[in-house]
Amino acid sequence: MKSIGKRCKIVYEIREAAKLLSAGKVVAFPTETVYGLGADASNPEAVRRIFEIKGRPADHPVIVHLSHPDQLCEWAADIPDEAYQLAERFWPGPLTIILNRNKRVPDEVTGGQDTVGLRIPAHPVALALLRKFGGGIAAPSANRFGRISPTTAQHVLEDLGEELEMIVDAGPCLIGLESAIINLSGPEPMLLRPGSLTVKELEAVLDGKRIAVPEKKVVLRAPGMLASHYAPRTPFAVIEAVALPETLTKLLTRGETVAVMTVTAPENSWPKGVTLRSMPPSPSDYACEMYSVMRKLDNGGFDHIVAVAPPDSIEWLAVMDRLTRAAG
Ligand code: TXA
Ligand code: MG
Repeated sequence: MKSIGKRCKIVYEIREAAKLLSAGKVVAFPTETVYGLGADASNPEAVRRIFEIKGRPADHPVIVHLSHPDQLCEWAADIPDEAYQLAERFWPGPLTIILNRNKRVPDEVTGGQDTVGLRIPAHPVALALLRKFGGGIAAPSANRFGRISPTTAQHVLEDLGEELEMIVDAGPCLIGLESAIINLSGPEPMLLRPGSLTVKELEAVLDGKRIAVPEKKVVLRAPGMLASHYAPRTPFAVIEAVALPETLTKLLTRGETVAVMTVTAPENSWPKGVTLRSMPPSPSDYACEMYSVMRKLDNGGFDHIVAVAPPDSIEWLAVMDRLTRAAG
């Protein structure tokens, strides 16, 4: 066990973490997607503390993490068959299901809405913690509001170490991308956030029912026009590969430095002022590295970070979604 700073301990101590949760404290813990900032979901005061620590507006709902599908009816009401079909196939796993809430769920968890987001994570440490604790753990990603999600305990420490007593450390997250979110509380299943599970995989267990995917018009903007208040702090842009040479020329003539995240790196040498970060060509490997790379480049003192848009295909939907969110 390592002691970091004045108060925050980075540990692998499931029993101690569960004790803190029972005492109404907030504990960061690993999941297969990203690290979460957990509190007892049935304790309104503990959940309020999550919002304080993150600096997150109170009307944003948080996901409740469970260890067994039997707990579904403690948290949700009017549960449709689709929920059981998805849960049976994909839980534990990177899928959050939005359902009508059970009346006992605190308003602090649902942000005052009539629905609740539920997920059983596939990480053995998260599951061990959930089982030891016994109840539901409310947990958003363990980053400050609007910043990059953490995929290592070190990331959590950098963002929130001052505010936390304990971070449960189990190394880097395997998926590195937040769970897919599907809403089953409306008239038709709807994808609210793409994740590592594709719509096709999800639809495959729904007896022919389709999942609506709200069309998001992706507008790729030139760097320099973006407010840097969003994650990362360095002005961040996503551009099409064809626009890269012109964009670089524009920035370099202004004497600015640029880090480029790209899958398709042309062979020729790069002009002075450009730092290349080549990214894995598979969507899942890209996702796994993406947030770590963004953090590293954000701390690298560059004037701009430019991500070259990955291929325009369905397998890249979740990565593209997060890149455009990061671009604000
Ligand atoms: O992979 C994940 O989902 C991670 C790990 C820790 O489980 N958690 C995570 O939580 O990404 P967070 O709070 O950073 O993102 C959850 C998203 C938010 O955009 C929130 O608005 C949405 O889920 N959400 C939660 N409950 C909801 C609800 N009842 N209705 C609609 N959206 C909801
Ligand atoms: Mg988040």
